[in-house]
Amino acid sequence: MPKNIKVKYISKIAHKVHEPARTPEETQAKKFARTPQLPRGMKDLLPYETPWWDLLYGRVASLARSYGFDKIETPVVEETALFVRSIGKDTDIVEKEMYPIADAEGEKLVLRPENTASIVRAYINHGMLNLPQPVKLWYWGPMFRHERPQSGRYRQFHQLGFEILGDESPIVDAELILIAYNLFKNLEISVSIQINSIGCVQCRPAYHQSLIAYYRTVRHEMCEQCRKRLQKNPLRALDCKEPQCQPLKKEAPHFVDYLCEPCKEHFMSVLEYLDELGLPYFLNHSLVRGLDYYNRTVFELYVSGEEEGSQSALGGGGRYDGLSEILGGRPTPACGFAQGCERVIAKIKEIGSVKLSEPVFHVFVAQLGNQAKSKALKLFENLRAADINVAHNLSKNGLRPQLEIANKLGVRYSLVIGQKEVQDETIIIRDMESGVQEIIGFNKAVSDLKKKLGLS
Ligand code: HAM
Repeated sequence: MPKNIKVKYISKIAHKVHEPARTPEETQAKKFARTPQLPRGMKDLLPYETPWWDLLYGRVASLARSYGFDKIETPVVEETALFVRSIGKDTDIVEKEMYPIADAEGEKLVLRPENTASIVRAYINHGMLNLPQPVKLWYWGPMFRHERPQSGRYRQFHQLGFEILGDESPIVDAELILIAYNLFKNLEISVSIQINSIGCVQCRPAYHQSLIAYYRTVRHEMCEQCRKRLQKNPLRALDCKEPQCQPLKKEAPHFVDYLCEPCKEHFMSVLEYLDELGLPYFLNHSLVRGLDYYNRTVFELYVSGEEEGSQSALGGGGRYDGLSEILGGRPTPACGFAQGCERVIAKIKEIGSVKLSEPVFHVFVAQLGNQAKSKALKLFENLRAADINVAHNLSKNGLRPQLEIANKLGVRYSLVIGQKEVQDETIIIRDMESGVQEIIGFNKAVSDLKKKLGLS
């Protein structure tokens, strides 16, 4: 080793040895120097956003009730095998988007990337086959996909979903599409429905062959991923998002031309039901969806006029008649859909026709002095328990700022408790419109206000 390098090395070590030890304060300061940041692709739901989420949840819950669905909640952590077997190992989600969980007991677990597989697992685990069929379930919750974050695409996002298990009839597909459509109608979002049929195990091999034969002729124009997947899972080429693969899809053979008789009949019936319901749908021959468990009907919903680019689907779903058996259950035909809550809420806000309802307060409780604060809290509690919409702000001290808040809230009456009122066991009622004040006994406050507000 040349001499000068050796010296440099020694001096580096020497510097380390002589570095003074950190004081506990310095160690502490270093530990807290940087505030941990929100992980990429994740979102905080801040207080100004949560009312929109509550609004959507309320509309979905009420729609679900009216169509006879029961709510189900499954854990966000599931066995990795659940998704590998159901979504398929040659899909984007399984190949590159799952979040593995380090489990001390060596179990292979992931954060769920979607919920349909979990619903079918729960259906099998809890013997729901023994319930009257079909079983109609809805859910709402966070999903996790390690995708490249961009507008409308997050790593933690939320889905609302509806699933009907135990009925193969095409009316089920039509009812689900109707529900998905009605949710948007209810939110005043105009959507279009894209629909296709991707057949069953009987008719798929012939279509696969024809698809492979077509794609071989344009192999040099395909992206590398599609070329790799072509033999194993040719349908994935139709689901590819790469720009170079888009024109190739347009020339690809159509699945509807290869459907076996039962699949053709099923699809025709779904379309007839949609016609009868007057739902606006479009046949999209390259719609295959990005998950392997689908068969027969598949569909997606887009904001009208924004159909180009499947990155922006507000929701999607389809039939998955074989999934129960893939997961070790009995044959159970099923169909469902899910919508992305972030995308739906962004659209509601963008369109602006649905308004949030502001909270309505009738009474404001104001206080002056420490003793009055505790009396005011008691009074607030009594009014609240009597179902009177009452507001307060115990952090403010002066009367003026409190009455300003009362004014902003538009309350009819303010109730004031000061030192004197505490001693006399009274309160002052101030009519916020006329400014007229009167004094009443503390214990009479609830009944008096109920009368004044016409609540008794
Ligand atoms: P999916 O198409 O993968 O289907 O997701 C459904 C919806 O979730 C999408 O249309 C989109 O609105 C939203 N979504 C998906 N990924 C993201 C993301 N990274 N960020 C924001 N939103 C996203 C399913 O998950 C199936 N389980 C649907 C289903 C239910 N099929 C039958 N039943």
